[in-house]
Amino acid sequence: MGVCFSIEDHHLVQEQQQLPSKSYQARHDADQSPSKTNRPELEIRSMSSLSAPRNVTDLRQNPGYGNVDIFTYKEMTLATKHFRPDYILGEGGFGVVYKGIIDASVRQGYETTDVAIKELNPDGLQGDREWLAEVNYLGQLSHLNLVKLIGYCCEDDHRLLVYEYMASGSLEKHLFRRVGCNLTWPKRMKIALDAAKGLAYLHGLERSIIYRDFKTSNILLDADFNAKLSDFGLAKEGPMGDQTHVSTRVMGTYGYAAPEYVMTGHLTARSDIYGFGVVLLELLLGRRALDKSRPSREHNLVEWARPLLNNNKKILRILDPRMDGQYSVKVAMKVATLAYQCLSQNPKGRPLMNQVVELLESVQSKEEEAMFQSSGGAVTLYEDPRHSPHTQSERKSPIRSNHREPRSSTPNNGRSNSEPPPEATTL
Ligand SMILES: Nc1ncnc2c1ncn2[C@@H]1O[C@H](COP(=O)(O)OP(=O)(O)OP(=O)(O)O)[C@@H](O)[C@H]1O
Ligand SMILES: [Mg+2]
Repeated sequence: MGVCFSIEDHHLVQEQQQLPSKSYQARHDADQSPSKTNRPELEIRSMSSLSAPRNVTDLRQNPGYGNVDIFTYKEMTLATKHFRPDYILGEGGFGVVYKGIIDASVRQGYETTDVAIKELNPDGLQGDREWLAEVNYLGQLSHLNLVKLIGYCCEDDHRLLVYEYMASGSLEKHLFRRVGCNLTWPKRMKIALDAAKGLAYLHGLERSIIYRDFKTSNILLDADFNAKLSDFGLAKEGPMGDQTHVSTRVMGTYGYAAPEYVMTGHLTARSDIYGFGVVLLELLLGRRALDKSRPSREHNLVEWARPLLNNNKKILRILDPRMDGQYSVKVAMKVATLAYQCLSQNPKGRPLMNQVVELLESVQSKEEEAMFQSSGGAVTLYEDPRHSPHTQSERKSPIRSNHREPRSSTPNNGRSNSEPPPEATTL
């Protein structure tokens, strides 16, 4: 999660010097939106596809997506055991997410399926627009690195989304909230590659899709740590023909949004690549995009770390010490250079997503080669120049975490990832 923002008028950025918080949007929406019982059927103006339902009435008349099931609210209640608090997986700007099981006791003949059920909070900041965007995009798209939408419920005022269950939760949880992070260098590179493939797929569609909310809490991991993108509420179709960009309200998450997009509202696929660069940096350094618990010059990860990325010695000093000994210096430099390029202030200086995929694939195959060539069990891919007693103590200093006590536990294992992330918010 992150601090989410939405700006109706980008000039606000200059006037306030800071991005308006979600509360700005909340007040703005409250002025215009009718109550829960009289919710407007908002159109998704950004969807140009003629076949896509433009509002909830359309969707009800033309449910359309053959591979997406339509559930009743009763079925949702049964699947979540009456929305049991200990079935809560997490909560974001959209609402609460529950673990659920859909089986024959929920719907006759249904093959037992583990799911995650997200219920729109009717008093929240997101509404039918985001809910329908998610149904429309995920209903039409299918890719190994996108979370599958299994179905939805749109009965009366209820708005729920039913996704495939991602057993290992979010990257944000593993990277920042778990005590004893088990994300090794190869795992992190595989997650980066999976997520890059998801973005490359979206960007490579005949009419490209800009994801707009790339961040660690939207990258979910299955039981085998395959990564998939979730949350298409902010996705937007890319420019067409000779258009260079689409003009939009500025929306996204603090710390991840590309600077030119925040300043102008001009959205291109290169904005996603900036967001990818931020996540890659978080993976490399094990630090959050925004972290107020650090010294003030380190609050904003990109501002602090980007200048250090093209200095070999300095990078080695700031790479996440929890990965010490797991990577080759040469490969680490390559990935750091990639992050540096993705984070270029100049959008044209950023690589395209398929180039990112190519580079990360080459990194993986080099590492596999190194593993293959090495003999015996554990592989040390490089000699860490910092292995001196002096630097040892520096490296072992704990990564500051913003851990909070969980609100509830998940079914079966008593584990929870439901606590709201500390600095979290979406634009
Ligand atoms: N398909 C899923 N499988 C398993 N857990 C999920 C799934 N979808 C969401 N979650 C859990 O629910 C949490 C909340 O997700 P949600 O997308 O609502 O909010 P967020 O991404 O944390 O914040 P934001 O509102 O800014 O996107 C996630 O961090 C994750 O732990
Ligand atoms: Mg999310």
